[in-house]
Amino acid sequence: MSTTSPTASQQPAARKKVTVRTLRARKRRGEPITMLTAYDYPSALAVDNAGTDVILVGDSLGMVVLGYDTTLPVTMDDMLHHCKAVARGAKYALLVGDMPFMSYQVSVEEAVRNAGRFLQEAGMDAVKLEGGRERLDAIRAIVSAGIPVMGHIGLTPQSVHQLGGFRAQGKTAAAAKRLVEDALALQEAGVFSIVLESVPGRLAELISRKLEVPTIGIGAGVGCDGQVLVFHDVLGLFDRFTPRFVKQYAHLHAVIAEALRAYNDDVLARRFPAAEHTVEMKEEEWEMLEKMLQDA
Ligand code: KIV
Repeated sequence: MSTTSPTASQQPAARKKVTVRTLRARKRRGEPITMLTAYDYPSALAVDNAGTDVILVGDSLGMVVLGYDTTLPVTMDDMLHHCKAVARGAKYALLVGDMPFMSYQVSVEEAVRNAGRFLQEAGMDAVKLEGGRERLDAIRAIVSAGIPVMGHIGLTPQSVHQLGGFRAQGKTAAAAKRLVEDALALQEAGVFSIVLESVPGRLAELISRKLEVPTIGIGAGVGCDGQVLVFHDVLGLFDRFTPRFVKQYAHLHAVIAEALRAYNDDVLARRFPAAEHTVEMKEEEWEMLEKMLQDA
């Protein structure tokens, strides 16, 4: 469990690239790990420059960028496209590509091949996939191909229909015990870290204490080794529903709406573009043009 809390501004001036070993060391020293999602070049630049340890190119992009109701329609092509843009923007953070629905469930071979594409084609450092004991074969095979894997248990959005909605998990003793067993099994299979999503805080803390690899919580309380939130939620980019576990650090939706309204008003009133936004010709060139047009 994390015991100390340096701020991003206390990080060493000469930043080094974060690796899976860095995260393990952070857990040993009791220092919290920061993780955020990013989906394109500007969001990757912003998240990386803020000193974030891990950037997840989450399949949540299906909902916050592509406008789907769930993450299920997201494809490998969608993920690789966004991962490439993030890799161009981020220099220091560990980059984790989220394996989309049906890219690792069908066979171990497909899982390894798709995981490899995230590193080989899209510049990621690691992959994340959802599920517990049912994913051990795929995880072992991906790890033995030399690809670091982050696990994800609790509320696993790709199983939304099986779970009966986006609901908290591990609330009964039996369900909590299964999650503890799943976490230990994932660690045994070789994951370097595990996301715990929407599980009771006490359970997340217990799992974090039992594991050597760091846990990253989302809706799982302060007892995890690190925390992750979705870029659009942190910045308040939407005014629609935000989950209870989200803390909005800005309300950019309102700022953006106001700026876009002001632009439209300026265009309608011919206040934009003004002289400072306009390129002009030298007077003598203009006069020459007028003369040339007269002569023509
Ligand atoms: O897809 C995603 O953004 C995620 C995080 C919320 C953990 O899986």
